[in-house]
Amino acid sequence: MTVDTVVAPTIHPELLSAFSQDEFNSHVMTTYGRFNLALVKGEGCTVWDSNGKAYLDFVAGIATCTLGHAHPAVVEAVMAQINTLTHVSNLYYVPVQGELAKWLVDHSCADRVFFCNSGAEANEGAIKLARKYAHTVLKITEPVILTAQASFHGRTLATVTATGQPKYHKNFAPLIPGFHYVPYNDFGAIESAITELDGRVAAIMLEPLQGEGGVNPGQVEYFQQVRKLCDQRGILLILDEVQVGMGRSGKYWGYEQLGIEPDIFTSAKGLGGGIPIGATLCKQSCNVFEPGDHASTYGGNPFVCAVALAVCQTLERENILANVQARGEQLRAGLQQLATKYPMISDVRGWGLINGLELQADSKTNAIDLVKAAMELGLLLVPAGVKVVRFVPPLIVSAAEIDRAVSILDRVLAAI
Ligand SMILES: Cc1ncc(COP(=O)(O)O)c(C=O)c1O
Repeated sequence: MTVDTVVAPTIHPELLSAFSQDEFNSHVMTTYGRFNLALVKGEGCTVWDSNGKAYLDFVAGIATCTLGHAHPAVVEAVMAQINTLTHVSNLYYVPVQGELAKWLVDHSCADRVFFCNSGAEANEGAIKLARKYAHTVLKITEPVILTAQASFHGRTLATVTATGQPKYHKNFAPLIPGFHYVPYNDFGAIESAITELDGRVAAIMLEPLQGEGGVNPGQVEYFQQVRKLCDQRGILLILDEVQVGMGRSGKYWGYEQLGIEPDIFTSAKGLGGGIPIGATLCKQSCNVFEPGDHASTYGGNPFVCAVALAVCQTLERENILANVQARGEQLRAGLQQLATKYPMISDVRGWGLINGLELQADSKTNAIDLVKAAMELGLLLVPAGVKVVRFVPPLIVSAAEIDRAVSILDRVLAAI
C-alpha cells in the first residue's frame, strides 16, 4: 500500500483548497520559514493537505504526536474532560494533575513535578529551581549553569541564552547572565570550565541526545563522568528531556540510555501527544520551591493533564516502548542500507525513534533539499541543522510505514 492509497477520512469540504497563503501571511507574524504546505487532517501516521493529498508523517509535530493523529485514547480523553471541566486555577487542588504527577514519579527517578505549557517553560522552571538551590543551599551569589554547544533549550530569553547556538542569540542582546558553554560529549571541557569559574558553577544542563543540534546521542562514559563530578562537587545535573523523553528513545527517559539519573529534568512535546503541556521534575533533595516561587495560569489544568495522562497510560498499556525499539532498529537498518548505496550519506545515528541521517559535509545537497523532495513524494521529514535529516515519527508507527518511508527516501536519493 502506498501513501496515496491510504483511504482518506472524510475531510470537511471547507478545509479543502479554501486556504490562502497570502491571507495567512498578511495576519500571522513571519517567525517561521514555512514549507509550501497546509495540513488539515490527520489519522495515525498519515496527514492530509488542503488539496486532499496524503503524507506519511515522520515529523509528528517535531517529536510531539506520540500516539499519532486522532488516536482514540486521546480523542476520548479530550472529549470526556472538555465536557467535564476544562480549566480552573492552581488556587485549588486539581485531582487529575495529581494523578499525572503520580504517573510521572512512578515511571521516572523524580519525586516532584511542576506543570507548565511548553518545553521552554519547563526549562525556565529548571533554571529557576537550580538558581534558588544555588542561592539557598550552595550559597553561590552569582551562580553559573554550564550548557553545551549545539544544544537547544527553547526560545524564551533564559532558554535561548541557555541554548549554545549563537545563531539563536543574534539581535536579542543583552542575554541573561549566568550561562557558560562547553563542547558536548567532552568531559575535559567541563572540568576546565569548573576550574575557570572558580566555585560559581551551580548546575550542568544537557540534552541526553541533542535533537535540534543534529541528532547527537550523548556518550555513556561522558554522562557517567559528569554525574560523578556533580556528586563530588554538589553541582546539580539538569537534563532536558523535552525532545528525547516520553518513550522516544525506546526507554521512558533518555537518561536511562546513559545509566545515570539527573537531579532535575524537563519534559514537554511527547508528554501531551499534541496538546500543550510541559513539566519540570526533580528529586526531593533539590525540591526547594515554596509557595509563590513559581506559577503558571494554565500549568497542569484539568484538560491538559487528563489528555497527557491518557497518553502516558496508553504508552504503558500498549507496551509502545517495545514498538519504539523494534521500529527504531528497523529504520536504522533501512537507512544504513541507503548509506551503503549512496556515498552522499556520511552517518546514520540515533536511539529508538529519534534518528538522523547525515550528508557529507562537502555534498552539494543539504538536508532541506532531501526534505523538500521527500515531501513531493508524500513523506514528511524535518532537518536538524544543515546536513542532518531527522526522523521522528509517531511512536505507534508500523513496520509497513517504516518500509514505505525508507523506500520513498531511496527514490529521493536516486533522483538527486
Ligand atoms: C530539547 C528541547 N528543549 C526545549 C525545546 C523547546 O520546547 P518548546 O518549543 O515546547 O518551548 C525543544 C524544542 O524543540 C527541544 O527540542
